[in-house]
Amino acid sequence: MWSTSSLALSVALSVAVTAALPPPRPATPALHPIIANGSSVAVPYMCEAFLFCSVAEPTCQVQWRDPSNAPLPAWSPTASRYHLGSGKHLPHDYLVFHDFLQEQEGLYTCVARCGAGQEGRASVTLTFEPQSVPCP
Ligand SMILES: *[C@@H]1O[C@H](CO)[C@@H](O)[C@H](O)[C@H]1NC(C)=O
Repeated sequence: MWSTSSLALSVALSVAVTAALPPPRPATPALHPIIANGSSVAVPYMCEAFLFCSVAEPTCQVQWRDPSNAPLPAWSPTASRYHLGSGKHLPHDYLVFHDFLQEQEGLYTCVARCGAGQEGRASVTLTFEPQSVPCP
């Protein structure tokens, strides 16, 4: 059976031990990349399209993924879709379609990443606009 004094000692010790521990780490805040174009965009056939994603945290990075979750390639003369950007001070990335085609429809995701496994996503659905409206 515990005497009052040993209980008091044990409480005092556990308070001392708790006080010696580093403060609990704040929960890792979620990242919220922003797609400037909203959650769905209709792109006319064979038109160029730029979609813009950025994240407010300057030390993070953003990257566009295609509907199969593969990262978009960098620009090349033959790429029909590619990414441009990833600047450091306002991390951002453009998703660019040279000539938008029906098979490129789908959900494109902007992934923001920081060190220590911090990650956030935003997505936009791109749909094909079949009418031959003039390109914007
Ligand atoms: C998406 O937003 C960016 C930045 O505001 C703009 O430059 C671009 O034209 C927009 N794209 C489309 C397809 O509306």
